[in-house]
Amino acid sequence: MKVTAVILAAGQGTRMRSALPKVLHPLGGRPLLQYSLDLAAKVGSASPVVVVGHGADQVRETVGDKARFAVQEQQLGTANAVQSAAAVAAGEADYVVVISADMPLLRSETLQELVNRQASNDGPLTMLTVKSENPRGFGRVVRGADGSVTAIVEEAQATPEQLAIRELNAGAYCFRDAWLWPALRRVNMSPKGEYYLTDLVEIAVAEGQVVQALVAEDKCETIGINTRVHLSEAETALRSRINTAWMESGVTMIDPATTYIDASVQIGRDTVIWPNTCLYGETVIGEGCEIGPNTMIHDTLIGNRCKVFASVLEKAELEDGVDMGPFARLRKGAHLAEGVHMGNFGEVKDSYLGPGTKMGHFSYIGNANIGNEVNIGAGTITCNYDGKHKHQTEIGDHVFIGSDTMLVAPVKIGARARTGAGAVVTRDIAADTTVVGVPARPLYKSKEKDGN
Ligand code: UD1
Ligand code: CA
Repeated sequence: MKVTAVILAAGQGTRMRSALPKVLHPLGGRPLLQYSLDLAAKVGSASPVVVVGHGADQVRETVGDKARFAVQEQQLGTANAVQSAAAVAAGEADYVVVISADMPLLRSETLQELVNRQASNDGPLTMLTVKSENPRGFGRVVRGADGSVTAIVEEAQATPEQLAIRELNAGAYCFRDAWLWPALRRVNMSPKGEYYLTDLVEIAVAEGQVVQALVAEDKCETIGINTRVHLSEAETALRSRINTAWMESGVTMIDPATTYIDASVQIGRDTVIWPNTCLYGETVIGEGCEIGPNTMIHDTLIGNRCKVFASVLEKAELEDGVDMGPFARLRKGAHLAEGVHMGNFGEVKDSYLGPGTKMGHFSYIGNANIGNEVNIGAGTITCNYDGKHKHQTEIGDHVFIGSDTMLVAPVKIGARARTGAGAVVTRDIAADTTVVGVPARPLYKSKEKDGN
């Protein structure tokens, strides 16, 4: 059984009131269209066909080589949109699945069931419906006395009795390929000047054929996004779906309502997520960690048994047993090795802190390579920028950096060296040497000069 998926993504999305095409608005950190592409990849046999029109170039760019494209020159309605895909899709499969790119919460299991339902009956199409007290502008599903579907009536054309119907057209269909394409040519223009895909139901019924309807059990799956209010409803529903899945797989959430996790994030067992925590992008968190409250993490790898408290992390890496915060910030390229401790008001960027290194308070470490068991005193700054270029700081194992030390890069500090409080280090320091002062000088030399 071959299935081709057609994704409708040409509409303007006027009701979003946005410069960005509707299907590119992010949900759970990914463009809406991405969810349809994932669905299509699961149920389709060949690469899906995306119908583009409004903002076509931007949409193509986002999709890349994950689909084939058909162009709908003028947005003349959903039937016209499917028709635009004829040259690419007609005749290549037994069944054609049509979905809108604005229904991101549809599950692949449900869509597969729609295909199976169609494959096991002789009718020309099977449609997905939903029963809901909130019709949200959806087409109403009209059934005859025997309960079979006779039409879909769009809200604008519905009579008061039809408006009262609470079975709605979700906007996902599976058609017999051989029937679909010729039938599309028989759709007439609606009073609103559009060709409605939904008219195919009446066309089939007029031929004496039976239209099957699969009623979605979970209403959330059929949320169609026309406005930003719908987008936020979908975001809430998606959040609840993602959070529930993590809790079921062994993650504790103190307050799922304020826990925001992108679909792409991964979290290990027995990790606890405290309230007001946002985990975004390609973030991966290990087992037995404590994350939050009040923490935002982007694209960061976190090992096992780490504690991240009230902090902001971006494109960083934490090995096992790192403990940080409150109010710590990791920027791109920060790499904290096993057991690093980072306290309040520290910032690390493009730097490696070796195992067991401690940086308790008020420090900036940028473009540095720091060894094992180094103590970075309060207020230490790597002065890495001379106004034009960034320079590197190298600190050996077991170094003790005194409070308020300025490390004027490029500079190298040998193993077990020490700096006094307030030192401004402008030259390299040899191993096992203590320096003090501004600019910093080895302690023993000043003693010799004084004749002590
Ligand atoms: C559509 C259905 C409605 C259903 C609802 C479910 C029709 C006529 N109506 O209404 O019965 O209840 O979905 O969400 O189909 N598009 C194009 N080209 C166009 C017009 C639309 O590609 O010329 C695309 C849009 O980008 C969108 C999808 O088709 O992804 C649906 O269009 P939209 O305008 O959102 O339809 P609804 O009014 O929601
Ligand atoms: Ca819609």
